[in-house]
Amino acid sequence: MQETKDKKDILRILTDPWMYERIKDDLAPNLDVFKDQFTESTMISDARYIISDDKLALYIIHPLNSISWVIHTHVLPAAHTNSINYSKQVLDYIFTSYNDIHKLIAIIPDIYMDVLKHCKKCGFLQEGMISKSILKDGKILDQVMLGLERDRWVSSEN
Ligand SMILES: CC(C)(COP(=O)(O)OP(=O)(O)OC[C@H]1O[C@@H](n2cnc3c(N)ncnc32)[C@H](O)[C@@H]1OP(=O)(O)O)[C@@H](O)C(=O)NCCC(=O)NCCS
Repeated sequence: MQETKDKKDILRILTDPWMYERIKDDLAPNLDVFKDQFTESTMISDARYIISDDKLALYIIHPLNSISWVIHTHVLPAAHTNSINYSKQVLDYIFTSYNDIHKLIAIIPDIYMDVLKHCKKCGFLQEGMISKSILKDGKILDQVMLGLERDRWVSSEN
């Protein structure tokens, strides 16, 4: 795992058609417009983009405040047999590399049972529900909020 600012590598993962369909909401631009609009300057300025060595998995983290960061997971379908290993590697990387990060938060639409299960397998615990907070396929959905603290990650066997 390593931090990257390489727009080409980042875009290749985010604009994979399966991936983009999963991560966009109903008001997001279509894929071609998103590709055109995505520049270094539109990348979230205080975010860190962390990519696997084989460039099949991308994690984006950005601060909610000085100790709590939001994490977004993107593992390409070609790597899905191994998703759990990528995610555990990135959690190790984050908690080892960024000493200020005390807590990671994931916010997942409640229809994505696979993502929710994946997060829980990684040690995230459900902490709350953000009701009626994302528009997907014409429906306003609830999102589940999950959290993982540094201490719990470090003390777990992973
Ligand atoms: C999140 C992500 C890494 C999960 O990848 P994955 O390879 O499916 O992950 P895992 O296999 O580790 O875990 C998925 C689990 O959900 C289960 N699952 C799959 N579909 C399911 C469903 N409809 N209902 C319940 N469980 C389901 C799988 O069987 C698996 O459980 P298991 O390990 O006990 O067999 C991948 O989907 C991804 O990167 N998605 C892009 C981001 C995204 O979808 N974001 C949504 C908006 S936040």
